[in-house]
Amino acid sequence: MRKKVTVVGAGMVGGTTAHRLADKELCDVVLTDIIEGLPQGKGLDLAESAPIEGYDSRVLGTNDYKDTANSDIVVITAGIPRKPGMSRDDLLKTNYNIVKETTEKVVKYSPNSILIIVSNPLDAMAQTAYKASGFSKNRVLGMAGVLDSARMRTFIAEALDVSVENVTAFVLGGHGDTMVPLARYSTVAGIPLPDLMPKEKIDAIIKRTAQGGAEIVGLLKTGSAFYAPSAAIVEMVEAILKDKKKILPCAAYLEGEYGIKGLFVGVPVKLGARGIEQVIEIKLTPEERVALEKSAAAVKELVEIIGV
Ligand code: LAC
Repeated sequence: MRKKVTVVGAGMVGGTTAHRLADKELCDVVLTDIIEGLPQGKGLDLAESAPIEGYDSRVLGTNDYKDTANSDIVVITAGIPRKPGMSRDDLLKTNYNIVKETTEKVVKYSPNSILIIVSNPLDAMAQTAYKASGFSKNRVLGMAGVLDSARMRTFIAEALDVSVENVTAFVLGGHGDTMVPLARYSTVAGIPLPDLMPKEKIDAIIKRTAQGGAEIVGLLKTGSAFYAPSAAIVEMVEAILKDKKKILPCAAYLEGEYGIKGLFVGVPVKLGARGIEQVIEIKLTPEERVALEKSAAAVKELVEIIGV
């Protein structure tokens, strides 16, 4: 039997995620939204692409949570996106209510699912879903690190004129301006970045990575990024559905790892059939530790406002 993945929110991120999941024939997809017709229209359009693309994934668009029942994974993209000049944190209260209500409905119909949270501000919304779901911490995670490190990989590959496939990048911390891209753990064919590039160039790449989401918002003007975010979601879904045990940077609920307690923050985790199967801890320099603590403090400030 094919696996079932529900995508909540049929906007650009949700719709593109459904598209990529079907294209890769990873699972059946249910696309849901509160707007009438939107998920149905996108779902039908994707279903009608199947004969040409050659996938047998079923895609269903719906406004009814009953159709999401017994999903293996639920991806929550619901919420308002940023407009130019807005930070992810400006979305806090509106998206808190949306993510909380959405999670309650999702959990009712898919009590054994794994939740991937995408709504912003990311880490605080992952914490909202974790608390609202009552799920164990391995079954709630946030998508951001894969996206942030993909942006960094893109910029490194471009600067050195090498294949993106040769480049790994390492980004820790919250999905916000305080994220912590780590140059010494970023490599090209295994060679650490500081051996390949002068510090000024690395610093410029780190700065552009941290502002990567805002750069796209500034260009699009009417919304935020969706191609790279959906690609990141699909990499995470695939790792779980295929039990790949893939090490990916994700927002995870920490209980003492990296000296952080009771908070979602981006860290490298092992993703497999049970969701987060391990948080990978690495030794940080004092400078990196301070940057991570600053990032965690920014997340904490938000979760305290919404009280989760
Ligand atoms: C970004 C938004 C989706 O980073 O947070 O593009």
